[in-house]
Amino acid sequence: MSPMQLQNDLSFNGLAILYKIAHILASGQENLQTVMNTTLELLEIHAGMKRGMITILSPDNEEIAVDVARGLSETDKKKGIYRLGEGITGRVVASGRPIAIPTLGEEPTFLDRTGARKGLKHSDLSFLCVPIKAGNIVVGALSVDTVAVEASVTLEGELKFLEAVADLIAQVVQTRRHQYDLIRALEKENSDLKRTLESKGKPDQMTGNSSSMKEVYRQIAQVASSSTSVLIRGETGTGKELVARAIHQKSSCASGPFIAVNCAALPESLLESELFGHEKGSFTGATTRRIGRFEAADKGTLFLDEIGEMSLSAQSRLLRTIQEKEFQRVGGSDSIKVQVRLICATNRDLEIEVHDGRFREDLFYRINVFTILLPPLRERGADILLLADYFVKKYAKLHDKNIERISTHAIDMLSAYHWPGNVRELENVIERAVIVSAENVIEGHDLPPTLQMKEAQLQGCRHDTFENMVAAFEKELIIDALKDTNGNQTEAAKVLGTTKRIIQYKISKYDIDYERFRKIES
Ligand SMILES: Nc1ncnc2c1ncn2[C@@H]1O[C@H](COP(=O)(O)OP(=O)(O)O)[C@@H](O)[C@H]1O
Ligand SMILES: [Mg+2]
Repeated sequence: MSPMQLQNDLSFNGLAILYKIAHILASGQENLQTVMNTTLELLEIHAGMKRGMITILSPDNEEIAVDVARGLSETDKKKGIYRLGEGITGRVVASGRPIAIPTLGEEPTFLDRTGARKGLKHSDLSFLCVPIKAGNIVVGALSVDTVAVEASVTLEGELKFLEAVADLIAQVVQTRRHQYDLIRALEKENSDLKRTLESKGKPDQMTGNSSSMKEVYRQIAQVASSSTSVLIRGETGTGKELVARAIHQKSSCASGPFIAVNCAALPESLLESELFGHEKGSFTGATTRRIGRFEAADKGTLFLDEIGEMSLSAQSRLLRTIQEKEFQRVGGSDSIKVQVRLICATNRDLEIEVHDGRFREDLFYRINVFTILLPPLRERGADILLLADYFVKKYAKLHDKNIERISTHAIDMLSAYHWPGNVRELENVIERAVIVSAENVIEGHDLPPTLQMKEAQLQGCRHDTFENMVAAFEKELIIDALKDTNGNQTEAAKVLGTTKRIIQYKISKYDIDYERFRKIES
């Protein structure tokens, strides 16, 4: 069909082709490229319009890339990237108006960037390009070649026809863009929901947003529903017991009991009877039969705190109980069956304890199925202030005080301190500050001397010798530990992971008045 014919028959043929194209575009085919390709094919076969090309604006409206092109390879398509306003296609997109070039050979701005017309005589070709518009907005362009016409013949009719085709394409592009936006919006909603779910995974009683604590929340959620044994590790006061309770509350045995035993608090001789119970008369002082903590925790959770302090004989008994899921009371022979979820905690390096023969290796593997490591407070960044605020609210309410905020100076002191006693220490510091505070603001002088000392040191330390700085730091650590343990040297040694002998030596070396810390408490 010649262009002349097309022009004459447009009223009829044009409508027939438009109908066919509309039909294809409305077919709801999944792949937009295929639909557009078929459209261009129809234009070529039925309207003699060759090398059809549909270009769609990229979302940032900067580049115009070839989306679909008849007779173009993928590499040639990639070459067909124009800047807005560049070449004829660029001009059509920029202006929103169609352009017809009767004889390509006479057009200096024709770029043929894709190289589709290499080897063709440009004087034999006409080029038509119309915008694809959604409402008033240009979203792309449709272009075709036809056989060149004599200068006297206008290309009006062809342009009108192509504009009608472009309208049809625009509708499809719009619908697809809309669907795309919808999918993007859904994806965003989905990831937002996931994020809120993650923070929802945070146990109610726990405060902190640091990434290391988020990891802890994730682990709690992950392990809670199974009956796996959990080992919680971390320095003293980092919240190990809180995590154990959170796991219990989120577990399937949440309606059962949560029984906590501090293995360090009981003398070795009593721990076994505490855990497993005893029969009347089994040892001096056992005047009645007693139910142990294992029995009490049946269908619930048994939390063994400071498991690293357990004697080797208690360890063997514990291992046997875990393996056989039953045990005998001290001095008894009846086997007692229990269903207990075990959570253990320690601030000791159990690998070293195992290596040094103080902790059974087989028991270690039994209790260490899933490990949760609690980071020390000084590594939790902004959590220090979050927790401080949380404790201010908690203790202001408890002590019926009206405290609105923490002063900047006090915030600096809280942030600079190294918190050897972790969250527990922070909680104590804030409770004390709430009590002593005279106004509705916590000031620097409401904080304990240890924090003041830290500050004085920070200012003066640069002029001091390394040895003196280490000594001052060591002294401070020991004072902190003595405070936490009410002046108990054995306990303080434990907190610092050293021996009582070393602590006694340092106390006399630094002339620390440990009796003072006993008096503070009473
Ligand atoms: N993330 C936290 N949010 C709020 N309070 C905490 C948090 N971690 C610890 N605490 C509080 O600090 C104190 C010490 O926590 P605890 O679980 O006993 O530590 P650990 O067993 O590791 O020594 C408790 O009063 C506890 O409620
Ligand atoms: Mg504890």
